[in-house]
Amino acid sequence: MGFKVPQDMKHVAIIMDGNGRWAQSRRRPRVWGHVRGSFVLSDIVEKADQIGLKSLTVYAFSTENWKRPTSEIKVLFTLLKKFVTRERSRILRNNIRFKVMGDLGDIPEHTRKLVCELEKDSANNKGLHFNVAFSYGGRDEVVRAVNKFMVENPDRLISEKDLPQYLYLPEEGDVDVLLRTGGDLRISNFLLWQSAYAELFFTNTKWPDFTTDEFEQILRSVATRERRFGAIKETCTEASLPSEMISTESLHQ
Ligand code: IPE
Ligand code: IPE
Ligand code: MG
Repeated sequence: MGFKVPQDMKHVAIIMDGNGRWAQSRRRPRVWGHVRGSFVLSDIVEKADQIGLKSLTVYAFSTENWKRPTSEIKVLFTLLKKFVTRERSRILRNNIRFKVMGDLGDIPEHTRKLVCELEKDSANNKGLHFNVAFSYGGRDEVVRAVNKFMVENPDRLISEKDLPQYLYLPEEGDVDVLLRTGGDLRISNFLLWQSAYAELFFTNTKWPDFTTDEFEQILRSVATRERRFGAIKETCTEASLPSEMISTESLHQ
């Protein structure tokens, strides 16, 4: 039988980076990389479904990506529309629930309509939750959440339990694995709250070269890591220290 993710690996998030450099190294315009990358995404979604992930959230366009040339931004918007059109039947056939998270107000009317239709038609699907972060920023998401909470609860201070309920997709919960392609070692404002205890993995492979085999290898390797969440492994033995170490004086020596 093929690989299945362990039970505690529910939510994988991917920063799909390296498209521009992939194209430029082939003397092509950057947007070539985005086009090729959008097809890679189709394969990874299928793989995520096969290996039994509950949720896959991918970073397609950040709030900071608005700083790019308009021509590149336009291609990225067109690719979102093409992706939704192309993948619609496959998503529905495979029982996948599709959502876009981010400032949907920024998306052109026609694309927004297609996105909303697919969200609605796939809303009751019980398979993989596939989320695309578009015009998304982690700080923006947290600020929106806090503001929403304050409007609804003017007399109360917000808590760590309250905040996640006001994020874009409260049902997705924390990220278990945060993976970035393209070789850079940063999070670039992705899922800041949700990734507090995520296992991080960075690969030099640029997104257009990323394969389902590498995806599986990475998840296999991350599955062997011990996640402690601040605790320690020993559960039974009571901590005992030599008495001379217990005096406060000795702690300062
Ligand atoms: C990631 O690839 C896709 C988006 C950010 C939209 P890049 O376009 O950032 O590619 P590089 O990192 O410049 O190679
Ligand atoms: C992160 O990649 C955003 C997406 C993949 C959509 P960037 O290429 O925008 O990140 P930086 O600018 O290198 O941090
Ligand atoms: Mg990049």
